[in-house]
Amino acid sequence: MKTEALADDELVERLRAPGRPPQALVDEYYRRCIPVYLEFLGVDWHTGLYRPGERGVSPTDQVRMNRHVADSIALTSADTVLDVGCGVGGVACFLAREYGCRVTGLTPVRAQLDMARTIARRQGVQSRVDFDLGHAGALPYADERFDVVLFFESPCHFPDRAAFFKEAWRVLVRGGRLAGEDWLASGDMDDADARRWLSPVCRDWAIPALGSGDDYLAAMREAGLVDAACIDMREEMELRRGFATSQRQQAELAADRRACTNPFLGMILEGLSSLGRAVDAGAFTIGRFTARKPAATATP
Ligand SMILES: C[S@@+](CC[C@H](N)C(=O)[O-])C[C@H]1O[C@@H](n2cnc3c(N)ncnc32)[C@H](O)[C@@H]1O
Repeated sequence: MKTEALADDELVERLRAPGRPPQALVDEYYRRCIPVYLEFLGVDWHTGLYRPGERGVSPTDQVRMNRHVADSIALTSADTVLDVGCGVGGVACFLAREYGCRVTGLTPVRAQLDMARTIARRQGVQSRVDFDLGHAGALPYADERFDVVLFFESPCHFPDRAAFFKEAWRVLVRGGRLAGEDWLASGDMDDADARRWLSPVCRDWAIPALGSGDDYLAAMREAGLVDAACIDMREEMELRRGFATSQRQQAELAADRRACTNPFLGMILEGLSSLGRAVDAGAFTIGRFTARKPAATATP
C-alpha cells in the first residue's frame, strides 16, 4: 500500500474503517503526526506522571514518567537498554543523559528515526544513543543483547503484543529486566460498556485493540518472563488531570473540532474528546509494568 500518497482525508477514512488498522496505516499515522506531536507534546510522546496537588500539565510530567519507569527497574549507567517504539527518541536521549546508560531506540518509521538522530545530536548524547528501523514483532537484534527492554505507550499499537513479549524475552540477557507503561482497558466494566467507550479511542488513535493489564501479564508469562507485575496508574497519580474529563474541556474540544478544516488534526481533536470521555467513565487507564527474564532460563 502506497500510504504516503494518501490524502489526509483518505488516511483518516482508512484508519477509521471497521476492523483493525494494518501496520502500514499505523506507521503512516506516526509519520504524519510528527509536526503536530512535536508542537503539542515535545519529544516525549506519552502520558505524564501527574502528582496530586499540582495544576495543569507540562513536559515535566512526561519526564517524571520517564524517570518513574526507569527507576522501577533500578536502571544504572551499566545497562544496555532497548526502547521499543521510541518515537522521536525523547526517552532514549533522556535516559542516556540522566542515567549515563547506552540506549537503542527502535521505530518502524524512517522520519521518526531521522528526527531522533537529529535530537540526539542536538542534546549531545549521540555517542550513547543509537536508533534503528524495525517492528516490535521481529526485533532486529541478536539473542541476549540487552540488559533492559523498555516501552512507553507503543504496545497498544502493536498488531501482536504476545509476539513482542517473546521477542523482548529473546533479546534480554539472562536476568534482564523489562519495564514500561501503556494505554489499557481498565477491566472495570463488562465488554459491551467497555466497547462503547474504548472503540472510539482505538478508532481515533490508530490502535488495533486495547488490552487489559491481565492480558499483558498473561502474554509476558507465556513468553517466559517472571515476576510480571502491573500497577494501575490511577493508584499512583491523578490520571484525570492529563485528559479532557470536564464538560468545559469537552466543549472547548468540540468548538476546536468544528473550526478545524484539516481531517488529520480533526481526528486528533476527536481523539482527545474520546479519550477524556473514556477516562471519565472509568473504562481507560494507564498500566505500568515490570518483569524479568530468569537468570537461569529454559526456552519457553
Ligand atoms: C505514542 S508513540 C510513543 C513514542 C515513544 N515511546 C515516546 O513515549 O515518546 C507510539 C510509538 O509506537 C510506534 N509503533 C507503532 N507500531 C509499532 C510496532 N509494530 N513496532 C514498534 N513500534 C511501533 C510508533 O511509531 C510510535 O513511535
